[in-house]
Amino acid sequence: ESRLDTEFVGRHIVFLESIDSTNDHAKKIASKALDGTLVLADEQTKGKGRMDRAWSSQKGEGVWMSLVLKPNIAPHRASVITLIAGASVARALERFGADAKIKWPNDILLEGKKLCGILTEMSAQMERIDYIVLGIGINVSTMEFPDELRDIATSLKREGHLLERRDIIIAVLEEFERMYSAYVKTGDASEAIGICREKSSLIGRDIYVISWSGKVPAKALDISGEGDLVVEYEDGSVERVISGEVSVRNR
Ligand code: BTN
Repeated sequence: ESRLDTEFVGRHIVFLESIDSTNDHAKKIASKALDGTLVLADEQTKGKGRMDRAWSSQKGEGVWMSLVLKPNIAPHRASVITLIAGASVARALERFGADAKIKWPNDILLEGKKLCGILTEMSAQMERIDYIVLGIGINVSTMEFPDELRDIATSLKREGHLLERRDIIIAVLEEFERMYSAYVKTGDASEAIGICREKSSLIGRDIYVISWSGKVPAKALDISGEGDLVVEYEDGSVERVISGEVSVRNR
């Protein structure tokens, strides 16, 4: 049986059989928690997704976890941590033979369907981060999704990968610690960004960039060294999208 081989990520664990949301719980304990504390639950009764969406988190069917992080970096550099998390999940799954793709900036796909979502929340004052709560949800053994998710979500088991939650967690935390430490200590996120580029589900595809002003058609060209999505609009102008929501256009 494998054991967790990290310095600080996941060294302290809060395990909850059932909780509303591991992100919300992590925020409650964050000020007193040590850097790298892991909040893990068997079930979430009010799992949260991005954009106020719900995240379905049935008992025992997935990895529902949140890390409390206290990096000594400027708040505007925190968004890269989401990319590091996505790269960690994709690399970890690759170790087990699952070819996951990263849909910049927050989602991991398997066979074109959503397998994992990442929800990063931050509390910062001026130029200092109090804490970051990094929530990761991975569908492991779910076989039945609600109607509205059936065609867009999947689980490892549904795609033929029979894995233990414990082994996935260990692999993700180990991958994460290596890339996160490099970034926090030296500002180097090249490994993670390289993985996001290599495993991107968007590069080369026609997409919509979604913002408060609407859906703008564009083509995804690349992910920059800073982790931004480089897009080309229909008028030929090229822009770096720093964060936000994009969707793939179906032809
Ligand atoms: C998304 O894709 O919209 C993000 C989903 C994030 C889900 C995880 S599960 C663990 C953590 N706790 C939550 O309430 N949400 C995140």
